[in-house]
This record gives sequence, C-alpha cells and structure tokens, in this order.
Amino acid sequence: MNIHNAELTVSAVSPKQYPSDGRMEFAFAGRSNVGKSSLINKLLNRKSLARVSGTPGKTVTINFYDIDKTIYLVDLPGYGYAKRSKAEIEQWGSMMDDYLENRENLVQTFLLVDSRHKPSKDDVQMAEWIRHYGDRLIVIATKFDKLKKSEIEPNMALIWETLGMGEDDILVPFSTKDDEGKYTVLDMIEMLRAGDIVIDENMEE
Ligand code: GTP
Ligand code: MG
Repeated sequence: MNIHNAELTVSAVSPKQYPSDGRMEFAFAGRSNVGKSSLINKLLNRKSLARVSGTPGKTVTINFYDIDKTIYLVDLPGYGYAKRSKAEIEQWGSMMDDYLENRENLVQTFLLVDSRHKPSKDDVQMAEWIRHYGDRLIVIATKFDKLKKSEIEPNMALIWETLGMGEDDILVPFSTKDDEGKYTVLDMIEMLRAGDIVIDENMEE
C-alpha cells in the first residue's frame, strides 16, 4: 500500500462524531504508552501526525486518520494508565464498547503489546474482546528494537501463550527505529481491504 496523503479527520468522543462516509477502518488498541500513535506515524511516514506523548493517558478520544480518501486508521484510547480516575476508566470502557461493538466499518482491530513484557491482564482482556467482535487476532509486538537477540524467541513465545493465540492468529514484531514490521502491517491492511467486504460507494473518489 502506498500512502500519499494522511490527515486527522476527527478526534471523536462520541459516535455521532465518527466519519459517516462508510470507508473501511483499521483500528489500533493497546495500553497507554505501548506505541499506538508512534506506529501510525511510522506507517504514514509522518513524524508527528499522531501525537506521541511522554505523559500517557492524556487523551481519551478516538482519532480517525484519513488515508488518501480511501480508508481510516483509527487510534484508540489507551488503557492501563494507573493515574486514571474511576470515572475516566468508565468513560474509556463505554467509548470502546460503542466503537468495537457497533462500528460496521471496522475491518480489523490490531492489538499492540510491548515486546519486552508479559502481556497484562488488560491486554488479555482486550485480546478476548477483539476475538469476540472479529474473527482473527492480529498482535503487534512494539519496541522490538529494545530486545536483546536472546530475548526475541522467549518474549514472542510468552506473548503468544499469554494471549492464548492460535493457528489463525498473527504476531508481528514492530519497531519505529527501523522498518521492522512496517511493510507487514501495511500489506495486511491492503489484503484485508481487498477482501470480500462490501464497501460504501462513497469510498470511491
Ligand atoms: P497513549 O496515546 O498514551 O495511549 O500512548 P501510545 O500507545 O500512543 O504511545 P506513543 O506512541 O505515544 O509512544 C509512547 C512512547 O514510546 C514514546 O516515547 C515513543 O517514542 C516510544 N516508542 C514507541 N514506539 C517505539 C519503538 O518502536 N521503539 C522505541 N525505542 N520507542 C518507541
Ligand atoms: Mg497515543
């Protein structure tokens, strides 16, 4: 997939703000600070289109990035940020529910986990959520550049096992420091997009 133009269409806090042109959407979920926004920037060859922050959990919005007027990449709000209030966690839950449960344009949610650590309970739950609403689990192991060579195999095995991944699931190492995983993710989006999925006519421009 070659990308020419990418721009933020909307930072939505409620479903009525979601784009209404029926284009396919590919979403990225994962805990705060795992690298969702960085991954989107990397895929789009943009330094700071999606905001990357040192302080996690600041934004609780669903950000829709328009890619060449054909699809949207969707940056979902992160979870697992310790300094969140109960009200903020509830807000997060209902926003995610609204989106994951009801969004017909959503083709695939990619789950990002930190390649250095065992997936958290929240990661496991997110994996179950993605499986429940879709049929395949695609996991992206971020910050892969931070692994020592000797850690690669055991860490990937731990992610696979902890998330209960199976034959049909996919695990992709990813790093923003080089091109690790970049073309794999872009190719997967392209392949999912070309699948037998009905597209709204507005998509063609
Ligand atoms: P929230 O928006 O808070 O949910 O976080 P996020 O998942 O969008 O994470 P973000 O992209 O803001 O990245 C968090 C931090 O991790 C930043 O300091 C990034 O520079 C760093 N980071 C992200 N990806 C990588 C990577 O592949 N390698 C390294 N070394 N650092 C990374
Ligand atoms: Mg972010």
